[in-house]
Amino acid sequence: MTKKRRSQHWYGKLDKDGFIHRSWMKNQGFPDHAFDGRPIIGICNTWSELTPCNSGLRDLAEGVKRGVWEAGGFPVEFPVMSLGETQMKPTAMLFRNLLAMDVEESIRAYGIDGVVLLGGCDKTTPGQLMGAASVDLPSIVVSSGPMLNGKYRGQDIGSGTDVWKFSEAVRAGEMTLQDFMNAESGMSRSAGVCMTMGTASTMASLVEAMGMSLPTNAALPAVDARRMALAHLTGKRIVEMVDEDLKPSDILTKEAFENAILTNAAVGGSTNAVVHLLALAGRVGVDLTLKDFEIGSEIPLLVNCMPSGKYLMEDFCYAGGVPVVLSELKPFLRPATTVLNKDISEHYEGAECFNTDVIRPFDDPVKPAAGLRVLRGNLAPNGAIVKPSAATDALLETEAEAYVFESIEDLKANIDRDELPVTPETILVLKGCGPKGYPGMPEVGNMPIPAKLVKEGVRDMIRISDARMSGTAFGTVILHVSPEAQAGGTLALVKTGDRIRVSASKGELELLVDEKELDARRALWQPDDPHYTRGYAKLYIDHVLQADQGADLDFLVGKDTRLVTRESH
Ligand code: FES
Ligand code: MG
Repeated sequence: MTKKRRSQHWYGKLDKDGFIHRSWMKNQGFPDHAFDGRPIIGICNTWSELTPCNSGLRDLAEGVKRGVWEAGGFPVEFPVMSLGETQMKPTAMLFRNLLAMDVEESIRAYGIDGVVLLGGCDKTTPGQLMGAASVDLPSIVVSSGPMLNGKYRGQDIGSGTDVWKFSEAVRAGEMTLQDFMNAESGMSRSAGVCMTMGTASTMASLVEAMGMSLPTNAALPAVDARRMALAHLTGKRIVEMVDEDLKPSDILTKEAFENAILTNAAVGGSTNAVVHLLALAGRVGVDLTLKDFEIGSEIPLLVNCMPSGKYLMEDFCYAGGVPVVLSELKPFLRPATTVLNKDISEHYEGAECFNTDVIRPFDDPVKPAAGLRVLRGNLAPNGAIVKPSAATDALLETEAEAYVFESIEDLKANIDRDELPVTPETILVLKGCGPKGYPGMPEVGNMPIPAKLVKEGVRDMIRISDARMSGTAFGTVILHVSPEAQAGGTLALVKTGDRIRVSASKGELELLVDEKELDARRALWQPDDPHYTRGYAKLYIDHVLQADQGADLDFLVGKDTRLVTRESH
């Protein structure tokens, strides 16, 4: 070893500061040789009982520790803020950037040489990666892994996806409230993340495709013993990565992001991947824009998982998982270095598919050309997105009248009114749900279908907003309209009765109101009063970037890899 390890700037000092750093750590029973210059590996844990999806991470941390000790490193586990997607109000997304700050500053302030990121639930994976990328120490991910398949009355049911279906069935009078409640326990019956291809499994799949985890990390069920073994192997590998000085900036190249975009299309991944990848790219300094997502547009949907298909993550795992998908995408994948310090091809070489209905071959896909579409026009000058694999084809090319909800409260109060003036062709528009507006850009973009139409059997309509939607959700839902209404985007000016043109094939989203009329409306427009005037939420509202830039905070873009030299005593 030629260069002094980073951790030695804490634990290798033969003075008062070194004494303090070592002595207090020794109160946990670590022997002298733990501080002898071996790599010190931080295990950044988002375990929390309020993040049920990450409840298995304490066990996995033990697996990582075994591997770190075995490879001659010294593991130290530390907690960071945990974001429970299903538990936090107004939305866990409001706090993704706060987690990223927590991760970044924890890594920077402590005497560690490399980091294992233990996350899983939707925002925990991107938040941890963003924070780690901004310090750029060797880093690797171990995910929670999905829950076992949901089961209800002998059928497989999927996290989220079947919640939306059941709740519409109750509103349509096709399911009793008692049956609805009974399904709860069967849906979530083991540790782990949503077992649909929701945001958590999407992000885990993209992490694997970008080469930031060991192969098979995304799909192994949370409670599968092989995940514990994977944690152990990851602990071993991070020690080697420290010696190789293999950092996120070596792995998260433009090519790696392109591989993630291609993979997202093939797995039918969440629209949320867009904001997370854009934000992460901003941290590592990769020039990624919404336009880059178009390289996925022609990629077919290969993975037949909810919400775009019918199976669940357990099935995806047993069929072969992400390595099989990468192997099908081989002609398109870009060369990119991974945590193995090898090309991504090493992650899928020899991958075998054990169920070709769950992971379809490239020439017999679930759906052709399934990648996300980017829409632009006067209604979204900086872009909006739609996920064709989860949409109704016939609705993707439409011109119709809008019905506008001015806020989420307006929607909740009126969506079920019998006299709501809407038809199945109406385009539902919702304002005030962007990053600044809500704040935090919640997953309300898949607005419920108005009750009177649900009763007529309508199950999908075009919906447009500045919100996101859950990765487990489906429908012809146009999301992430940028700029958002609260930032003065054209969305703020739409009125009920205006005509809107949507063309996914041409990438268009036009409000068919002439410029003069829009100028007149703009002159009268006022933003709503902010919902928060102090604390982190105020900082967020004042500094959050728009969706097309990943909704990071403006001052968090980029990285600072300097070693902190000043001591606290
Ligand atoms: Fe945590 Fe879906 S709610 S992964
Ligand atoms: Mg979600």
